[in-house]
Amino acid sequence: MADIVERYNIPKQHFWLHGPRAGQPVEYDADIGMWNVYGYPELQEVLGDPATFSSDTMRVIPKSLMPAAEEFSMEGFITQIDPPEHGKLRKLVSSAFTRKVVADLEPRIAALTHELLDEAQERGQLELVTDLAYPLPVIVIAELLGVPSSDRALFKQWADALFQRDAKISLSKPTEEQNADIQASLRPWHEMSAYLAGHAAERKRQPRADLLTRLVEAEVDGERLPDVQVVNFAIILLLAGHITTTMLLGNTVLCLDAFPEQQDKVRADRELVPAVIEESLRFFTPFAALGRSTTREAELGGVTIPADQLIMVWPGPANRDPRQFPNPDVFDPGRDPNPHLAFGRGIHFCLGAPLARLEGRVALNILLDRFNPLRTDPNDPVDFMPAPTMTGVRRLRLI
Ligand code: HEM
Repeated sequence: MADIVERYNIPKQHFWLHGPRAGQPVEYDADIGMWNVYGYPELQEVLGDPATFSSDTMRVIPKSLMPAAEEFSMEGFITQIDPPEHGKLRKLVSSAFTRKVVADLEPRIAALTHELLDEAQERGQLELVTDLAYPLPVIVIAELLGVPSSDRALFKQWADALFQRDAKISLSKPTEEQNADIQASLRPWHEMSAYLAGHAAERKRQPRADLLTRLVEAEVDGERLPDVQVVNFAIILLLAGHITTTMLLGNTVLCLDAFPEQQDKVRADRELVPAVIEESLRFFTPFAALGRSTTREAELGGVTIPADQLIMVWPGPANRDPRQFPNPDVFDPGRDPNPHLAFGRGIHFCLGAPLARLEGRVALNILLDRFNPLRTDPNDPVDFMPAPTMTGVRRLRLI
C-alpha cells in the first residue's frame, strides 16, 4: 500500500487510501460542526433510512451561509429530495433516461473513443484525462441531452468553478473567504441554468429526438416536470457526466498500472472487464463522500447523533472497511460479490450507473486493444485532484 501511495503521490486528505484507518466508524468533527460516518454497516444504515437521514442537507445549513432563495433554487435537484417527492421525480426522469436509451449509445461511445485516441496519437502523446477520460463522457452526455457538444469549453468552465474548490465548508466557524466562495459559485450556476433553460424552451417549441425533449414531455399520472425541475435535472446530468466517468476511467487505468498481473489477466480474458471496473470503483471510489442530515436523534455505530445535524457519509473509507472486504487494500477483481457503495445504496442509487459502467467497459476494452502494455509514464507522475471528497486523477500520461 505504502508503495502505491508514494508512487502516485496520493494526497494525505485521502487518508483511507493510506492504509488502515484509526478511529471510530462514526465521529464528530467539532472544528467544522459535522458528523462523519466511515464504516460500511453504518453507511448501509444511513443510506437505507431516508426518514431519519434526509438527503435535504440545506435544511440544517444556517441561513447566513446560504444564498437567498431568489438567487438559487434547488427545486427538482433529485439528490437533495426525500420521499415521497423523490419517488415521483425519480419515476418521471427514469421514464426519459431509460436503460434502452443508454444501451443504444454503445456504438457511439466506441466510435468516439477511437476518434479521441486517434487525435491524440496523431499529436504523438496521450494524456489520458485531457485526451479521453474528460471529453468522452462530456460529449456523450451533451449529445444525449441534445445540447451542442462544441459548447464543451463552456461546460468545463462551469464544472471547474463548481467542483475544483478544495476549501472545506465549516458550519461552526464560517469565514469571510468561505462566504465569498459560496457567492462565487452562484455565477456559473446561473449561467448554466440560463443556458439549459434556453435549450429546454426551444425543445418545447420544436421537439427533437433527444433527452431534453423527453424530459420536457415526460409525464407520470398526468403531470409534467415544471421548467425549473427540467433545468435542474439537466444540470445534474451535465455535471455528473463531467467528473464521474472521468474519474472512473483514470482510476481504472491506474489500478491496472499498479497491479500489472491483473492487467495481464484481463487482457487475456475480456469477460473480466466488468469485474475490473467494479473493483476500481471500490478501490478508488470517485465520490468519496455524500451529505445527509438527521431529522431526529439517531443511534449509529454506538454513538447518539442529535436531530438536525449535518452528516458526511463516506463511501470511500467504507469501501475499505475490513469488516466487509477482506484485505481491503488489495485490488482484487475476483471479489464476488463486490457490494461496494461507489454508486450509493437505496432510493438514491446512482441513476447514471448503467451509463458509467457502459462507458467504462467500452473505453477500457479499446484502451487494452490499442495499448499493450497500458502503463503510466514514470517520468511524468500522475496528479490527483486535491478535493478531499473526490478521488480521481487530473493528469495521467501514458507511455
Ligand atoms: C463512476 C461514475 C459515477 C459515480 C461513482 C456516481 C456516484 C453516484 C452516487 C454515490 C450517487 C448517490 C448520491 C446520494 O445517495 O446522495 C449518485 C446519484 C446520481 N447519479 Fe451518479 N455516479 C456516476 C455517474 C453518473 C452519471 C454518468 C450520471 C448521469 C449522466 C449520474 C447521475 C446520477 C443521478 C441523476 C443521481 C441521483 C439519483 C437520485 O437521487 O435518485 N451518475 N451517483
